[in-house]
Amino acid sequence: MLLIMAVPGVGLLTRLHLCAQRRTRVQRHIVRLLSCPGTVAEDLRRDEQPSGSVETGFEDKIPRKRFSEMQNERREQAQRTVLIHCPEKISENKFLKYLSQHGPINNHFFYESFGLYAVVEFCRKESVGSLQNGTQTPNMAMETAIPFRSRFLSLKLKNQTSKQSCIQSSNQLPPSNRKLFELLCYAESIDDQLNTLLKEFQLTEENTKLRYLTCSLIEDIAAAYFPDCVVRPFGSSVNTFGKLGCDLDMFLDLDETRNLSTHKTSGNFLMEFQVKNVPSERIATQKILSVIGECLDHFGPGCVGVQKILNARCPLVRFSHQASGFQCDLTTNNKIALTSSELLYIYGALDSRVRALVFGIRCWARAHSLTSSIPGAWITNFSLTMMVIFFLQRRSPPILPTLDSLKTLADAEDKCIIEGNNCTFVHDLNRIKPSGNTETLELLLKEFFEYFGNFAFNKNSINIRQGREQNKPDSSPLYIQNPFETSLNISKNVSQSQLQKFVDLAQESAWILQQEDAHRPSVSSNQPWGLAAVLLPSVPNRGSLTKKKRKRSANERVKNLLESLKSNRTANFTETNEKRTISTQT
Ligand code: GTP
Ligand code: MG
Repeated sequence: MLLIMAVPGVGLLTRLHLCAQRRTRVQRHIVRLLSCPGTVAEDLRRDEQPSGSVETGFEDKIPRKRFSEMQNERREQAQRTVLIHCPEKISENKFLKYLSQHGPINNHFFYESFGLYAVVEFCRKESVGSLQNGTQTPNMAMETAIPFRSRFLSLKLKNQTSKQSCIQSSNQLPPSNRKLFELLCYAESIDDQLNTLLKEFQLTEENTKLRYLTCSLIEDIAAAYFPDCVVRPFGSSVNTFGKLGCDLDMFLDLDETRNLSTHKTSGNFLMEFQVKNVPSERIATQKILSVIGECLDHFGPGCVGVQKILNARCPLVRFSHQASGFQCDLTTNNKIALTSSELLYIYGALDSRVRALVFGIRCWARAHSLTSSIPGAWITNFSLTMMVIFFLQRRSPPILPTLDSLKTLADAEDKCIIEGNNCTFVHDLNRIKPSGNTETLELLLKEFFEYFGNFAFNKNSINIRQGREQNKPDSSPLYIQNPFETSLNISKNVSQSQLQKFVDLAQESAWILQQEDAHRPSVSSNQPWGLAAVLLPSVPNRGSLTKKKRKRSANERVKNLLESLKSNRTANFTETNEKRTISTQT
């Protein structure tokens, strides 16, 4: 017998050892019976294909969804979804049958994160209410539960008769370094390596669903104060450049609450809400986030380690959502960051080479500690992505259009001014002409390192709006113009020594790839080559290395890596839940 209870908080449960086995035909049949008509195909497709897809050709002919369309669809899906902490011994079929009393299920998946969790999406929103109505607040022997009704539930077994069943649980983690190196070594070309890296690191469909669900759960909490609020994910969770394990940036959008009064004018009268006033927008933001932060801390199921970082340039509430495993940064009054996410989404969707190259460069930077989880003078992933976009705008013919040309394609509907900044650009992806450039990823990777290894950072700035270098307006070592707030530098924090490290590593990587052209190890030799070779850990004082020494050090690194592969130890360059920089947006 199954019993659902509201979760008062998630304890650290022993990690379960569940066997990952594909569903049997019988199970599938049951899932089919419980599913909405027309959704079975989707369920089966999900089962039979690896999550996430990588295109290896150039332009995709399928019309792409607009960012807002994609966000609205995902948000609506998330509102019909519940998160359930499940016991160790559970029969998937019985579980689904029990839940389907409340209405048909559109799809579901399980994952492990200090216990077993199920994400269950109903076909109809009413089913969630029906399930909640049949759910009780737990009775605790030693503690008192604060009664809080949410869509994060806990499943209890009334009697412990169920046998442990095999549940296929969806993976939420990037590959181990060892597995990645093996995959890269066996790839057929550098293009293949970059596409493999993308496939292994990109957010899966399930991980994306979990991100939207987490935002939706937080939205329910914020809605206690602001009933019309929307909590939207932004940053790498939605801009197509997110790696498994990246943080979850959330934006509390209060526009609906603010704008309601404008729709309700009639005749000579104008009705306004009685409100409290504060001296500035910033203080309003701080007050709102402070209260929401308290609420998450005291009542938010699974929200732990809540920190209110209200004096940052962009005030935020940071917390861990324990059940999903996401580190979350909640901001408000941050519309430009959402617009930047949309711009990156467009760039990521325009050409399949863009994401592959960005993922390669991000992994490369992480491998060499050019990026870090600690706030400081390092380059951020956001800046690296801008550098790749800029580089692709500089190709001949360009692979990506400039932001100014995306602005000229915009129509009246696309017009957007935020805080006096013109953020207009075309939103319909299908109106952007594909590039005629057919360069391979291999060439682009090499040329990226060449280009930035020799870039005149001392006098030029990077500017994706115009797609060309400009004179630096100040003496910051690295100047990347903020695409929307054009008088600002998004990499103002980067020190001269960090920039020099980037340049030295770019030069060395370009050199390694050039050497390989002449002497590429055969695939059967099982030696790190191509992308794998440039991901190897860095050696000290590389800046002063002569070419001869570079060659020697690269050979040594290859040798060391082979040894570490043998002994099951590999370089540490994955990035799992470690991004903890305070958003100091410029
Ligand atoms: P990862 O979290 O590292 O995977 O990448 P991210 O793109 O999500 O970066 P981050 O979490 O640091 O920031 C989230 C979003 O805020 C970015 O995608 C940008 O849209 C925006 N952002 C971050 N840093 C800056 C900055 O320095 N200036 C501006 N204008 N926006 C920024
Ligand atoms: Mg982020």
